[in-house]
Amino acid sequence: MIPVIRKQNMPSGTIFSLLLALTIHQTLTADVPPTVVAPETSSPPASPATPGPPERGSYNVTNATDAVCLLARMGLQLNISFISSSHGKTVQEVLNLHPNLVKFSGSCDPDSATLILTEDNITLTFSFSLNSTSNKYHLSGLELSAALPDMAKRLVFRNTTLNYMVGTLGHSYMCQKEKTLSVTQDFSLNTFQLQVQPFGVNGDFGAAEECDLDEDDMLIPIIVGAALAVLVLIVILAYLIGRKRSHAGYQTI
Ligand SMILES: *[C@@H]1O[C@H](CO)[C@@H](O)[C@H](O)[C@H]1NC(C)=O
Ligand SMILES: *[C@@H]1O[C@H](CO)[C@@H](O)[C@H](O)[C@H]1NC(C)=O
Ligand SMILES: *[C@@H]1O[C@H](CO)[C@@H](O)[C@H](O)[C@H]1NC(C)=O
Ligand SMILES: *[C@@H]1O[C@H](CO)[C@@H](O)[C@H](O)[C@H]1NC(C)=O
Ligand SMILES: *[C@@H]1O[C@H](CO)[C@@H](O)[C@H](O)[C@H]1NC(C)=O
Ligand SMILES: *[C@@H]1O[C@H](CO)[C@@H](O)[C@H](O)[C@H]1NC(C)=O
Repeated sequence: MIPVIRKQNMPSGTIFSLLLALTIHQTLTADVPPTVVAPETSSPPASPATPGPPERGSYNVTNATDAVCLLARMGLQLNISFISSSHGKTVQEVLNLHPNLVKFSGSCDPDSATLILTEDNITLTFSFSLNSTSNKYHLSGLELSAALPDMAKRLVFRNTTLNYMVGTLGHSYMCQKEKTLSVTQDFSLNTFQLQVQPFGVNGDFGAAEECDLDEDDMLIPIIVGAALAVLVLIVILAYLIGRKRSHAGYQTI
C-alpha cells in the first residue's frame, strides 16, 4: 500500500516544485525592469542629472585590403571627474556617446588593434592586444581625451595596463549587462550590451564568449535545477526504502 501512495506522490511533487521554481524565477526576473527613475530632488550640488542608458552603436575597422578586421557593438557612457572651471571644484560628469554623432576609425596589426571613437571634443581609444602564444586577446589600453565646455583645458586619461574583455582568437567577447571599467582614478567607462571582436574577424562576429556577469544570470536556474535534482533523489530514495520495507514485510508474514 505505502509504496503505491508514494509512487503517486512522486510526479505531482516534482511538478509542484517545478511550478514553484518557475514562479520564483519569474518573480525574480519580473522585479528587474522597473528601475532607474532619476530622483531630481536628491541630486548632489554641481552634479547634473545622469543620463539614461546610452544608445548602442556599431563600429568596425578595416585593414589595408578593406577587409573588416575589428567589430564592435556597444553602448558607451563616460564617467569623468575633473575640476570645473566655473565652480572651481571637482565635479562628476556622466555622459553618453551618441552613435549617430560618433566617427570611428582604427588600425589592425597582427598582435594589436585599436578602435578610435570621436564625438565632438571627445576621443576615446580602445587598444587590444593579442598573445599569439596563448591565442588570447584582451583590452589592454583605454585613452580618453576630452575638452568639455566646463574644463579649463583638454584632459587626457590613459591606462595602458588594463586587462578587460579577455577572449579567445576567433571568438567574440560579449557582455550584455552594464559593466564598469575603471580606467584611472578620475575616469571610468560604463559599457552596455557589448560585443567586440578585435582579432580574427571573418566577415561577422565569431561565437560569443560571455562575460562573468552574464554567467551570473544562469545561477538561479542552476540552483533551482540542483534543488530539483536533490528533491527527485530524495523521493526516489524514499520510494526504494519504502519498497524494501514492504518487501521485508512480505517475507516476515
Ligand atoms: C562597417 O561600417 C560601415 C560604415 O558605417 C558600414 O557601412 C558597414 O556595414 C560596416 N560593416 C560591418 C561588417 O559591420
Ligand atoms: C586583411 O584582413 C583579411 C581578412 O582577415 C586578410 O585576409 C588580409 O590578409 C588582411 N590584409 C592585410 C593587408 O593585413
Ligand atoms: C561615476 O563615478 C563615481 C565615482 O567613481 C561613482 O560614485 C558614480 O556612481 C559613477 N556614476 C555612474 C553613473 O557610473
Ligand atoms: C570643443 O573645444 C573647443 C576648444 O576647447 C571649444 O571652443 C568648443 O566649444 C568645443 N565644442 C564642444 C561641442 O564642446
Ligand atoms: C602569452 O601567453 C603565454 C602562455 O599563457 C604566457 O606565458 C606569456 O607570458 C604571454 N605573453 C605575454 C606577452 O603576455
Ligand atoms: C591602470 O589599471 C590598473 C588595473 O586596473 C590599475 O591597477 C592601475 O592603478 C591603473 N593605472 C592608473 C594610472 O590609473
